[in-house]
Amino acid sequence: MRPLKICLVSSECTPFAKTGGLADVVAALGRFLGKRGHDVRIVVPMYSRIKNGGYEFYPVTEAQDVPVRLNNRTYWFSVSTLQLPRSAAKLWLVRCPELYEREGIYTQDGDEHLRFAMLARAAFAICQQTQWSPDVLHCNDWHASLVPIYLRASYGWDRLFQNTRTVLTIHNIGYQGTFSADVIPALGLENERHLLWQEDLSENRINFLKTGLIYADAITTVSRTYAQEIQGDELGMGLAPLLRQRADSITGIVNGVDYEDWNPRDDVLIPHNYSQKDMTGKLRCKEALMKRFGMQPDLEAPAFGIVSRLTFQKGFDLLAEILTVLLHRENMRLFVLGSGEEKYENYFRWLQETFPGKVAYDRGYKEDLAHHIEAGTDMFLMPSRYEPCGLNQMYSQKYGTVPIVRRTGGLADTVEPWDPKARSGTGFLFGEFTPDALLNTIRYALECWKDRSGWQVLQRNGMERDFSWDHQGEEYIDLYRRLAPAESRASAGGSSTAYTGLGEPPAPKTTTIVPLAKTLMRSARELAAEKAGKRGKNRK
Ligand code: ADP
Ligand code: GLC
Repeated sequence: MRPLKICLVSSECTPFAKTGGLADVVAALGRFLGKRGHDVRIVVPMYSRIKNGGYEFYPVTEAQDVPVRLNNRTYWFSVSTLQLPRSAAKLWLVRCPELYEREGIYTQDGDEHLRFAMLARAAFAICQQTQWSPDVLHCNDWHASLVPIYLRASYGWDRLFQNTRTVLTIHNIGYQGTFSADVIPALGLENERHLLWQEDLSENRINFLKTGLIYADAITTVSRTYAQEIQGDELGMGLAPLLRQRADSITGIVNGVDYEDWNPRDDVLIPHNYSQKDMTGKLRCKEALMKRFGMQPDLEAPAFGIVSRLTFQKGFDLLAEILTVLLHRENMRLFVLGSGEEKYENYFRWLQETFPGKVAYDRGYKEDLAHHIEAGTDMFLMPSRYEPCGLNQMYSQKYGTVPIVRRTGGLADTVEPWDPKARSGTGFLFGEFTPDALLNTIRYALECWKDRSGWQVLQRNGMERDFSWDHQGEEYIDLYRRLAPAESRASAGGSSTAYTGLGEPPAPKTTTIVPLAKTLMRSARELAAEKAGKRGKNRK
């Protein structure tokens, strides 16, 4: 079968720009697809941290000073490229200093909508400039979610995209990119208002993720359980009705792990390597971790780890209810790495001051410490309210660090409960989102920890689990192939007339047909009538 041309569009990609799992997944998927012989381009903004990160990149000569019409004016961008490390996949970095050269990856600035509209528009413009005809534009999260509507509204005329299909992956439905509808003209969608979700418009909103979910040819999310959960009202976060209508187009594909980065046998970021055959290095990592934080080394004390964005999603409110009790009673250690909402940062700071020598908290973003905590602790805590997939529970298993997780999303799909009689399972799970449920589970884990021979089996079970992309990645390839129209096989790569985004595009030669969108769209009049009938029932 011919290799596919896959364009991944993402706001993050490891190691260049990362705030969480999205970055790891995009890089690892790109790497996997490259290894399988597919032609992969990853479109990412050139943030200051990438530009000044000491990377060696090269200008894409065909894509310099490319104009894009947004916000009623012209923005110019240029593209640089570099190879994704250890991979055949290439990055296409979109250099548009006035939008991207800021301190963070995400901002609270008034033009955040433009920053990511530009990402989507740039993805098309680069393909046009380089005459590269993607089989699939694979968009990730709300930041890339305008790609499907732009394909339909602004680029469908171009033969280059005649056979291009879109996949939208939801990594986290908690972030939807909702802006005032006043930005619609700035996004270049003024003439496409009829294609937007009318109920949102009537409430003066536009929701990037929702817009993408209407027009993407296929929707994926990062675990099977989460694919079901988001179709329910509790975890659908306002998008469940739409997702239920698109149920046939939704696939749950559990994230994989890049074991070249995350494997204690040859991890260069941990002080001592180890493997199932010889776990001495793990103990030495534990000792080194305690020393790193100025603690008295005590290898008998069970050590717990947390590496996380400190947000509502991650369930730390539960921990705050129980940790003082545990820390008073148990000779345990806790290592926390993460930043985020101030209240959680303050809490862990306070905990460290209250239990010196038992709790260590680092609010930085430190790749090496993240690896060291995985290697140097005995148990890893993820009491998430919801978790689309989660990566750390999979990393933990490989590092012989037993995960304690809430049974939700990808945590439910990737951690198997420990059964001491059958000696099967890889971790500990609790269901109810209550402090008691978590406390009881941690207590049970501490009981099991005392049975050292059982614990070794539990560790080994986890270390033997294989979450590599070799399994998971094939599911994406199957999906891409299912989407690719048969007739595209020969013609992909055909020429086009480059349209730079300035002025009106030529009339479409082909249209991407999204039949579902038709059924989803209701006229403003219908909505107004419906609303008049049931006021007060609107979603927030
Ligand atoms: P999410 O994407 O919701 O943040 P995941 O479990 O999928 O959750 O991925 C989190 C990733 O981010 C992991 O690779 C984890 O090690 C990393 N990470 C989170 N916080 C930090 C931090 N402060 N320093 C280093 N790595 C971090
Ligand atoms: C998200 C989710 C996390 C998932 C990651 C990568 O940010 O919160 O559960 O693992 O994306 O898909």
